[in-house]
Amino acid sequence: MDAPAPRRRTTALAAVSARLAGPVTLTPDADGRITACFGEQAVVVGQLSQAALARAGALAGGLMMAALVAPRTAVDAELAALLRRLARHGLIEYAVARTRGGEEEAVVEPQTPDYWPEAVDLDPGVTVALSRFAYMRRRGSDLVVESPRAGALVRLRNPATAAMLAGLVRPARVSRLRRQEGFPGTALFGLLVQCGMVFATTAGDDGGRLSEGGGELVLWDFHDLLFHARSTAGRHANPLGGMYRYAGTMPALPAVRPSWPGKPIDLAAVAGADLALPPLAALLRERHSTRAFDPARPITLAELARFLDGTARVLWHAPGEHEGDGGEIAPRPYPSAGSSYELEAYVAVDRCEGLGRGFYHYDAGRHALVPVGAKEQDLKALFGEAMYAMAVAAAPQVVIVIAARFGRVSWKYASLAYSLVLKDCGVLLQTFYLMMTQMGLGGCATGICNVDLFARLTGIAFHVEGPVGEFALGRPAPPDTAPADAGDGVAGA
Ligand SMILES: Cc1cc2nc3c(=O)[nH]c(=O)nc-3n(C[C@H](O)[C@H](O)[C@H](O)COP(=O)(O)O)c2cc1C
Repeated sequence: MDAPAPRRRTTALAAVSARLAGPVTLTPDADGRITACFGEQAVVVGQLSQAALARAGALAGGLMMAALVAPRTAVDAELAALLRRLARHGLIEYAVARTRGGEEEAVVEPQTPDYWPEAVDLDPGVTVALSRFAYMRRRGSDLVVESPRAGALVRLRNPATAAMLAGLVRPARVSRLRRQEGFPGTALFGLLVQCGMVFATTAGDDGGRLSEGGGELVLWDFHDLLFHARSTAGRHANPLGGMYRYAGTMPALPAVRPSWPGKPIDLAAVAGADLALPPLAALLRERHSTRAFDPARPITLAELARFLDGTARVLWHAPGEHEGDGGEIAPRPYPSAGSSYELEAYVAVDRCEGLGRGFYHYDAGRHALVPVGAKEQDLKALFGEAMYAMAVAAAPQVVIVIAARFGRVSWKYASLAYSLVLKDCGVLLQTFYLMMTQMGLGGCATGICNVDLFARLTGIAFHVEGPVGEFALGRPAPPDTAPADAGDGVAGA
């Protein structure tokens, strides 16, 4: 497992400067209030004194970070606060040189809103290795190093850094690396360590799978962790959601697949095929998504209890069928790959008669709701994201976050663990849809979940337990009162 946490120093940031990322303009008004304009958006990012305003102008070219990491003057503190606010909107990148004023070795692009550069300064005797989650790829005309564990990606300007990283497939001592010709300087090296792309391991260790991270990280395959981190919100800065990026380039595929040329067997003409459909088929046809809820009549706690009982409750505990099954299985009303039952329901309540606003875990074994103690601002963000995903202006009464305990599946399955989690999630979503329809409630699956927000709500690391699906639930608004903006949720999926 990981070697002891390396010593952290900030002096290594001497050759790091922060600058505006992309076409961003900062416009101050007469009171020093700064508006940042980017694309079609404009946000107020703070208010500066005249002295700070004079220095903020340097942000276009690059403002040295050394004084801002641990500010000693009031002006530095103002600038650091401005930087953090700009960074939260993804408007800052960090240029890294070997020495102050030297040639740019790399550019660090934050991927999470709270990324803040902190170059980890390792003792020369420490042994380091390349993370098995780090990868390099071409992006346009740049070479970038990324990792699903990292809060930032690094655009390499000097191929020698790539060669140094490639050499770290075999662990090496920091003292040896520093003497190496391609060593990119302590600042960039320290930032690569901060991002977990290079990690400290113990001398004599092979830097292999068991050396990096805790037990829960060992269970992740590279492609699974990358897929999880890149196909959810919160840990990357890529475009996300229904953006119709290729609408102007190529037509959409037809909704119904063009027929094969063979002779069709007409199923409607088969004898007995016209018998009345079973009740389940009627329920399937009645099922539809609801995005507008009745503000006057929230769902009740009794309805929520019945809904969870019917869809997600543990039915019985039993010893595992095979010795390798880890001792026990706990089946629920829906099928699950390998009887893993890795999915958990977390219930975010905005309005529910008999239950306070809050974030609860559904303890499926005890059939009980347990408050998680999440912060109000995080709960608000969760409802905000559900509204964005459904393209509606009013919060759903309840959002059920489907989270996976990934290790239940990856402990057993190689290569396909994460895909099984997503398939299980689809099965549970349909179970929710059918139960909701049967109970006369309304609901809608949403395709975007924010892994970092869930980590904040629960305090659990994103690779240990994390959201893979969400479902808005409540009493549907009467048909004639549903607002016009309760459309088909083009922002989400
Ligand atoms: C996995 C999944 C993700 C979905 N994501 C969203 C979403 O983000 N926003 C939304 O408004 N609807 C979402 N939906 C609902 C679909 O838009 C909806 O099922 C589809 O348009 C068919 O309409 P119906 O459910 O009313 O039959 C999702 C459905 C599924 C199964």
